[in-house]
Amino acid sequence: MSGELVENGQQCERRAALDVQPLVRQKAEHLGTRGTEWLAHLPALVSDLERQWSITVGEPLSGGTASYVCRAVTHDGDDAVLKLSLPDDGFQDSVRLLKAARGNGYVRLLAHDTERYALLQEALGTPMDTLDQTPEQQMRALGQTLRQAWQVPRWDDATVEPGTEKASQLGELVRRLWESLDRPCSERVRDQAMAYATSRAAAFDIDRCVVAHGDPHPGNALRIPTPRPGADVIARIKAGQTAG
Ligand SMILES: Nc1ncnc2c1ncn2[C@@H]1O[C@H](COP(=O)(O)OP(=O)(O)OP(=O)(O)O)[C@@H](O)[C@H]1O
Ligand SMILES: [Mg+2]
Repeated sequence: MSGELVENGQQCERRAALDVQPLVRQKAEHLGTRGTEWLAHLPALVSDLERQWSITVGEPLSGGTASYVCRAVTHDGDDAVLKLSLPDDGFQDSVRLLKAARGNGYVRLLAHDTERYALLQEALGTPMDTLDQTPEQQMRALGQTLRQAWQVPRWDDATVEPGTEKASQLGELVRRLWESLDRPCSERVRDQAMAYATSRAAAFDIDRCVVAHGDPHPGNALRIPTPRPGADVIARIKAGQTAG
């Protein structure tokens, strides 16, 4: 990608090339104008946030699917990570959750700009799936982290549109896949699964919901550099999700 920045009236070519993950670039291009504008403005956005948040941006991190993620160093010399997400309706809820969590169970948020889908996070360490741990050890550590993460209070105005809660979505998935996969199980099994989904959806009650991590797998749980009370790993938020 090529980009230019006009700074103090002088043209400079900082960040002429940003190493955007191919998958992220592809996703952006599929979003149409919103995505291509995001790509085009990315170098300027990075430079802007460097000034706004007094950070020095470093090398990009690979593995992202919906964002440009790179290392950064704060004004005080602390390691941080800058995450610039593709425009996404769920972004605001993620920020809300990270702010409310204050680093408990989730990555600590250092700064954010919701209009520009930008986050500055504390720098975390190795993801759990790269550590030499047994599945049991991973599950135990994830469970410990989630127990902390689920303490984040649900915000008062949290809403879930009828038919969009998890049970309805899963029921719909079963119905759709049963057809598109050419009836992979008996009708009886399908009907039973859908009956469970319908009964669970009917029992949905927002007042009994907690705010849960949307995707708590070992790749999303990164070691914290300095252990905090009660946790030696911490899950990074992928997306705020209200679940029963
Ligand atoms: N705070 C952090 N500290 C260290 N590494 C991080 C941090 N946040 C993200 N990373 C790493 O950067 C890479 C991409 O990050 P991430 O998975 O958050 O991006 P994404 O896939 O675009 O977003 P999401 O998973 O929320 O949809 C991953 O390899 C992840 O481990
Ligand atoms: Mg990811």
